[in-house]
Amino acid sequence: MYAYDEIDRTLINERVSEFRDQVKRRLSGELTEDEFKMLRLMNGVYLQLHAYMFRVAIPYGTLSADQMRKMAHVARRYDRGYGHFTTRQNIQFNWIKLADLPDALEDLAKVGIHAMQTSGNCTRNITTDQWAGVAPGEVEDPRIWCELLRQYSTMHPEFSFLPRKFKFAITASAHDRAAIKVHDIGLRLHKNDGGETGFEVLVGGGLGRTPFIGKTIKPFVPGRDLLSYVEAILRVYNQYGRRDNIYKARIKILVHELGIEKFAAEVEDEWLAMRDNALTLDDEVVEDIRSRFTYPHYKQLTDLPDELKAASADPHFEAWRLNSVAPHRRPGYSIVTLSLKPIGGPPGDATADQMDAIADLADKYSFGEIRVGHEQNLALPHVAQRDLPALWRALDKIGVATPNVNLVTDIIACPGLDYCSLANTRSIPIAQELTRRFANHDTANLIGRLHVNISGCINACGHHHVGHIGILGVEKNGEEFYQITIGGRADEHAVVGTLIGPAVPYADVADVVEDIVEAYLALRARPDELFIDAVKRLGVEPFKERVYATR
Ligand code: HEM
Ligand code: SF4
Repeated sequence: MYAYDEIDRTLINERVSEFRDQVKRRLSGELTEDEFKMLRLMNGVYLQLHAYMFRVAIPYGTLSADQMRKMAHVARRYDRGYGHFTTRQNIQFNWIKLADLPDALEDLAKVGIHAMQTSGNCTRNITTDQWAGVAPGEVEDPRIWCELLRQYSTMHPEFSFLPRKFKFAITASAHDRAAIKVHDIGLRLHKNDGGETGFEVLVGGGLGRTPFIGKTIKPFVPGRDLLSYVEAILRVYNQYGRRDNIYKARIKILVHELGIEKFAAEVEDEWLAMRDNALTLDDEVVEDIRSRFTYPHYKQLTDLPDELKAASADPHFEAWRLNSVAPHRRPGYSIVTLSLKPIGGPPGDATADQMDAIADLADKYSFGEIRVGHEQNLALPHVAQRDLPALWRALDKIGVATPNVNLVTDIIACPGLDYCSLANTRSIPIAQELTRRFANHDTANLIGRLHVNISGCINACGHHHVGHIGILGVEKNGEEFYQITIGGRADEHAVVGTLIGPAVPYADVADVVEDIVEAYLALRARPDELFIDAVKRLGVEPFKERVYATR
């Protein structure tokens, strides 16, 4: 966990009182909704179909048990008893009343949580993967660099009004779980031949109506130069990014229009002119941030303790362990994923009672720490293997031990027409129907790793372009239709999926997904050839034939 200092706390508290005054002026009519809009957006408050929506950042996806309890409190006291975890390590409350917002923010501020820069044309929450700092094989804990970037970019005067929003993601693993290639800037922490730690910098990735996979702009930027290099990119973007057309304003369009070589040359010129300035990170600065992260006092344990061997006789426990428990960098410990994808439920939602129970379990079994992943699931990052059977029983009781992580029912979906004012179609009911179709975990396991992503409009909040199966809602003559893509992925081999044919009506979507899955099962070369690999080998044709043969 990162420990805030007095300056951080003062900043957050002052922001709350500022917002309280703004809300008061809105409620008294002194400010019109139009005048208030910019002010509320600066604090993560959107106006949605039915109510105000409140988006709160969870920096680098790390939450303490107390912070989680506060989220539960906000959900229970000011909302309808649940919150929604998003694909960018945020949580959203969908039914909050304007009059209650200052109190909700004040309550969250007590545990160091805020909603600054969760909206608007600024740097959004800096994300990483949910296993950061505990996964085996990482170069180092990427959250240290997330925190440096967070401090640098929070309320940065020059970059608070960029042409459009700006998203960073960092990974420190060879296997990218943070989807860095679909971010405005993606950073891959690695070591160069001299053993020095630095970053491969990617730029211009993004989804939305014009999807692009990020391109490498510089293969190695030493850690000490990270901020100055990033600043050079932001300066070039701020100067040349388009402000005349919202659909062409993201950095991906600038990179595409200039070409990566020209863009890189512009950045290099800018950087060389200013690299040795106050932004250079000397070792003490990095060390200071590093020292503010506290790590658990792990015990000396060994892998595969007797408690675990005994419990493996229970097939339900074993199915869950094989699916949801991952190796930890310390012997005798594991990382446990909590599925927020119950069969028939909306993806990514957690009730206040679940959040409280998870906070208690984190205290008991995970040194009081919880993680949030971009797949809309949670994780307990430091669980002793001997505690796994007891933890599993407790998680099962509260409905977050569905053994479907990375399987066909582990669906990423945006809020769609159920909440979102920009939606063309529903997303959540499609996800719910699909989970019911594939409810049998044996079948889901037989199918293996398969990511289904659903967005209710072209803005692509559900990452449909990079789903192994992507589902995009489009409206045709007032009716809900869905385009289906296959072969997309968001990891280190990120690629945008290929459309298989004409859009299909709402009622057909689940059947189409079943057809695609059946075609895959019939066509795969071996039982362990993953869906995504089969699509790469075969192309879309056989899947297209199967889906449209009878339609
Ligand atoms: C309900 C209110 C929401 C609104 C009004 C909204 C709006 C938008 C818009 C307009 C874009 C396209 C931006 C662009 O390309 O310039 C976008 C992209 C995106 N949103 Fe949302 N969104 C909402 C909720 C969510 C939720 C719940 C999630 C996560 C589940 C999410 C995650 C994302 C992601 C990952 C992208 C695409 C990545 C990118 O290229 O930036 N959004 N959103
Ligand atoms: S993809 Fe469209 S419908 Fe879904 S949340 Fe984003 S803006 Fe709304």
